[in-house]
Amino acid sequence: MHTQVAIIGAGPAGLTLAHMLHLQGISSVVIECRGREHIETRTRAGILEQPTVTLFEELGVADRLNREGLSHNGFYVRFDRSTHHLDFHRLIGGNATVYPQQEVVKDLVAHRLAAGGPILFDTAVTAIETTADEARLRLDHRGTTTELTADFVAGCDGFHGVSRAHLPAAGLREFTRTYPVAWLGILAHTTPTTPEGMYCAHESGISVHSMRGPRITRQYLQVPAGTDLADWPDDRIWDELTVRSASDDHPELERGEIVDRSLAPLRSYVCETMQHGRLFLLGDAAHIVPPTGAKGLNLAVSDACVLSHALGGWYRAGTRAHLDAYSQTCLPRVWKAQHFSWTLTTTLHAISDDPMDWPLRRARLARWVESEAEQAALGEVYLGLPFPTPWRHPAA
Ligand code: FAD
Ligand code: DHB
Repeated sequence: MHTQVAIIGAGPAGLTLAHMLHLQGISSVVIECRGREHIETRTRAGILEQPTVTLFEELGVADRLNREGLSHNGFYVRFDRSTHHLDFHRLIGGNATVYPQQEVVKDLVAHRLAAGGPILFDTAVTAIETTADEARLRLDHRGTTTELTADFVAGCDGFHGVSRAHLPAAGLREFTRTYPVAWLGILAHTTPTTPEGMYCAHESGISVHSMRGPRITRQYLQVPAGTDLADWPDDRIWDELTVRSASDDHPELERGEIVDRSLAPLRSYVCETMQHGRLFLLGDAAHIVPPTGAKGLNLAVSDACVLSHALGGWYRAGTRAHLDAYSQTCLPRVWKAQHFSWTLTTTLHAISDDPMDWPLRRARLARWVESEAEQAALGEVYLGLPFPTPWRHPAA
């Protein structure tokens, strides 16, 4: 089997890229090691930047997103028992949209299948070989091995995928920072405590109070790295969320049935070598941000936009320059998102034992709520910096 672009991974990066290539008449095969139901029900991200929503609208995949997404102007921060709204929309325009990642994935899978494009579910890429002329992938489907050749490989297989390991070790530029904390995330049948998401900074750590609908909340709690979920029965989760979110201006947090729980480590990682020959890395395969600030999914979509533009130039006009410049085009936006996520992470979490840590963090929080200049600077990145390359439909 041969295709123009082999896409490893049916997450936001791989599925967005597949759709953009399809619209340009470029063939691709998406290979996904998990089943369709698994990827369509995996609870993860929830906040889409304005450029991500605008791109999905331009790609014609945003009907349900526009109907069901919750449009937010900014977020709330709570510290010292007081709640403050940061209204980024008023200062710089645009919105953040609450729309769960699994719904994005469902929409993109449906469009992909309707367009006749293949997604090979339950199929893992187990080996990648690239030569000057083509790429060769070994696929494993429930014990049966096949081969796929392609002009290019898009490694959209997340942080634990196989594609990054194909980069030659010599000269690899990587940066890693791990934090001694993780996020314990829950989905619960309760009413959101504020009309838009809220970050609470507390001496014992962050709590995050987001939502998926009028009666379903998504909430996160800072816990030590290496925490065992079994040590967190429902009451303990609610007690801790209640302590961290206590305020003098809102009622106590509502408790309810917890229907999903998970742990996510906090890590910053950038592999600046985002390409090698015919292989290109996108999204979490190339970079991870800590979840504070909700940037990961949006960066994955932004990378897809850059690569689809470069591949479009190659297949339409034989232009190699955009492919060669792929990493350099993506990286400035990746680093700005890293910086934003690091700023929010270090301001909102209790990580250091240094007695000066909390007073310094509190001073930064005070500046966020008292200064419109600070709010505008935060809002520009939260609502989404422009993508490095715009999407232009080939027919336009
Ligand atoms: P993935 O979504 O990880 O997709 C990779 C796919 O590749 C997977 O489906 C995997 O099964 C498949 N795969 C792996 N290896 C192979 C193989 N060998 N062969 C075939 N297939 C393979 N981001 C935001 O923007 N906003 C948020 O609000 C937000 N909140 C988050 C909250 C939490 C708790 C977590 C954990 C993450 C959050 N993120 C958020 C991050 C976001 O979920 C990721 O950045 C996003 O999923 C990256 O998309 P991706 O397509 O690069 O990778
Ligand atoms: C959500 C996720 C985040 O990473 C964040 O910073 C805020 C909200 C969410 O899942 O709703």
